[in-house]
Formats: sequence, C-alpha cells, structure tokens
Amino acid sequence: MNKRILDLVVKHREELNANYVLLKATQNDKLPEMLPGQFAQLRVDDEPAVMLRRPISINYVDYDKNEVWFLIQIAGKGTAKLAETKVGETLNAILPLGSTFTLPEDTTQSLLLVGGGVGVAPLLFLGGELKKRGFNPIFLLGARTHKDLLQLSDFERFGQVLTTTEDGSHGEKGFVTAHSVLQEASFDMIYTCGPRPMMKAVAALAKQKGIECEVSLENMMACGIGACLCCVEETTRGNVCTCTEGPVFNTKELLW
Ligand code: FES
Repeated sequence: MNKRILDLVVKHREELNANYVLLKATQNDKLPEMLPGQFAQLRVDDEPAVMLRRPISINYVDYDKNEVWFLIQIAGKGTAKLAETKVGETLNAILPLGSTFTLPEDTTQSLLLVGGGVGVAPLLFLGGELKKRGFNPIFLLGARTHKDLLQLSDFERFGQVLTTTEDGSHGEKGFVTAHSVLQEASFDMIYTCGPRPMMKAVAALAKQKGIECEVSLENMMACGIGACLCCVEETTRGNVCTCTEGPVFNTKELLW
C-alpha cells in the first residue's frame, strides 16, 4: 500500500469533550485505500515550536463520503494546533502508514475489541471493516468517566458496546480488564489499543486463556520513517521500529 502526501480539506470539526476533537477530512480525488490499524502523519502548520508531524490513528474511513476521520487527543502544542483546524482549512497528511490488524475470514469467530482513552480511535475503523465483512464484534471501551467515553453511537452501528468507567458513571465500575465479559465469555481473537498497562493486562489475560491477541502500540514517534529510533519496541525478532514495523503486533511477538 503506497503512502501518499495529501492536502486534505476539513469538512467537519467536532469537540467531543475538553480533550478530544474529531476532524473529518476529504479531497476531490478518491481517497487511497486504508486499513484498520494504520495511521497518518499530520503536519502541524503555523506553530514554530513544533517541527515534526504528529502520528494520528485513522479513526474511520467513510468511502461513500470520501472522508477520513482523525480523533485528536490534545496532549501538547502540536496536537492542540491540529485540533484547532477549522472547517475549510487544509490538513496535510502522509498516509496510510504502518501495519494493520488481521481481518479474519471465518465470520463465526467471536471477536472482542478492547479500547481505552485515545486507543479507541483505530477500533472504530476496525469494527466498521469487521461489520462490513459479516462479523458481529463486541466492543469493550473504558474511560475515567462517562464524559470520556467517545463516539459510542458510532461504535453501536458496528456491534455490541460494553463499557467500564473508573467512577461507575457508565457501564461497569473499574478498569476494562475487570469487566465481567472477559471472565464469562470466550473469544477467538482480542484486539486492543490504549494505555500500555491496559494493553499488557489484556494481553496477559488473552495469553492465560489461549486467545490470539493483537495490540496497536502507541509508542512515542518523532520521524515516523524509521530514522530516529525513538519508537523502538523489543520483540522476538529483535528491536523494531513501531513506526515502520507496527503499530500493530501480535502479542506473541512482544517481550511482555
Ligand atoms: Fe523515528 Fe520510529 S518514529 S524511528
């Protein structure tokens, strides 16, 4: 899948809460094919303190509307500037980058998608693709409070949505890893993305139950092209750059 440098135009901007902004962007030409798990490097314009692009997951691709969605977590100057992009303004993106989640063929397989924080972003695209292919995925989404649960109505279009919140304001109280579905149900595959301790706990649970598990790592990235080595992850095949070899890995490959 060849990466492109595109000048996208923002069609829709929505503040989901104080920390997250959803941007939907398009271009006149048909968008290139993208797959769940991949990401874009977005250029930060008009912010002299920010030299490097920011890696942002592909949140969803609506091919009917020729739109790609980015869920921006405001975590610093770069992402704050990106989140300010207004409708009609340009978003310069290099995409699609990185590895993809495995899309199984046997539609009888039961699939669980576990997300926390901004880690829910790639799971919406994954859920949409799985639904299109005849699966009925279950989403397990965790957040601190109900205000931090993002895009629930979008997730509900693609499967059953279960939630946990740390304060009990939505779904079961506690962390996603303590949700009853993980104790009671069996799955053929678990996909997860979110804070590293959460992904490690999900991976450990999957290993204990003999379930295949894929994670999308959110290692710090700078260059995004395998040059700076700031995103290295230790794997069974040695140290690899998350930006070029990941972000998606089967947990069997990771030294967790
Ligand atoms: Fe520079 Fe991966 S971000 S090597």
